[in-house]
Amino acid sequence: MTSNGTEASPPPNTSSTANAADASSIPQPLGDRFKRPLRDLRISVTDKCNFRCPYCMPAEIFGEKYPFLAREEILNFEEVERLVRIFLEFGVEKLRITGGEPLLRHGLHDLIASLRALDENLDIAMTTNGSLLPRWAPAMAEAGLSRVTVSLDSLDPDVFHRMNGERFSVDRVLEGIAAAEENGLGPIKVNCVVQKGVNDHGLVDLARHFHGTGHILRFIEFMDVGTLNSWNMDEVVTGAEIVERINAELPIEPADANYSGEVASRWRYADGGGEVGVITSVSAPFCGDCSRARLTTEGSLVTCLFADGGVDFRELLRGGASDDAIRDLIRSTWTTRTDRYSEERSGLLQVDGTTPKRERVEMYHIGG
Ligand code: GTP
Ligand code: 5AD
Ligand code: SF4
Ligand code: SF4
Repeated sequence: MTSNGTEASPPPNTSSTANAADASSIPQPLGDRFKRPLRDLRISVTDKCNFRCPYCMPAEIFGEKYPFLAREEILNFEEVERLVRIFLEFGVEKLRITGGEPLLRHGLHDLIASLRALDENLDIAMTTNGSLLPRWAPAMAEAGLSRVTVSLDSLDPDVFHRMNGERFSVDRVLEGIAAAEENGLGPIKVNCVVQKGVNDHGLVDLARHFHGTGHILRFIEFMDVGTLNSWNMDEVVTGAEIVERINAELPIEPADANYSGEVASRWRYADGGGEVGVITSVSAPFCGDCSRARLTTEGSLVTCLFADGGVDFRELLRGGASDDAIRDLIRSTWTTRTDRYSEERSGLLQVDGTTPKRERVEMYHIGG
């Protein structure tokens, strides 16, 4: 396990435990060009995944010989920990570990433990496809992971295979959710990407399955993220429609957001059976409150899910940069941020229902 302050590069000139003498250099919370704070850092720890969801990693592209990142291209745990320590100084309150599939990263529990050692109260969540939770949930909980969000697009084995590839079964994901629950990794959220004509007929089944379990099911509108899914507006089922369909079978009523900037709108079952959420990035974008930054597997900081690239931190980390140099780059990246892609999307829609093709960071590099 690594511990705070063990980085191999030259000694930092300030730290989060700075004494009074250098207190003036302690960073303040940052605001971007629209005064949005930086609160949420999402860290991709691998570009590999054991699923092949056609909307993210189509099997025909990501075959046996696909050149995933080499070990030396990926940030090591000390590098991630050092960056996180500095991000926390700027007011980050929540970390989300993503991938690809994060549980494929060797020794991930060591990284979690070192991040937990930075702050015992930090919210450290993980987005996973669930397949490896039966094996790893105990170690992750032990290391200090707070909670997991598991992706599950359908309970129907045929639809699941169509949307998530052939390698694993629905039952395996459900076992993963059970393992997370047994190990206290809750509240567990279950994310379902809704694609019209593919899985939308099964939404109520999913809702029934998780009703009363304490797990929070969230439906995500299919998005034009990355360059590999041939997204079309025709494939989007809006959040309003999803709510209507659930409400017709299992009555729901709106609930207040848990915190400002929450991605999902919450709906509570009228019978007390818990809640569901809808994530309406297409029909009702939420860029106005977006406080999320994403660190790619290879160490770039990306300020929007739909960005065409990011700002490289790996070179600084490996070139012996001081903490102040890293702080300066975080500060200049965030304070100049103007991203609001989902709000701009409707103006970009073309008559055929697509959005213009352009460079975009892939989902499996930034983890959603
Ligand atoms: P909680 O901390 O549990 O509230 O999680 P969250 O809702 O912030 O994060 P989660 O990663 O579970 O978000 C669910 C999904 O919403 C992601 O997988 C993305 O598909 C989508 N999403 C999350 N953040 C953004 C965002 O900033 N922009 C857009 N367009 N979609 C997002
Ligand atoms: N639209 C909406 N959600 C997506 N995800 C991956 N690709 C898309 C897309 N095009 C979801 C995954 C997972 C989370 C990381 O993002 O299914 O739940
Ligand atoms: Fe893997 Fe998630 Fe992408 Fe599916 S959406 S291929 S589970 S990273
Ligand atoms: Fe944030 Fe970009 Fe998503 Fe808007 S589209 S909510 S700016 S990540």
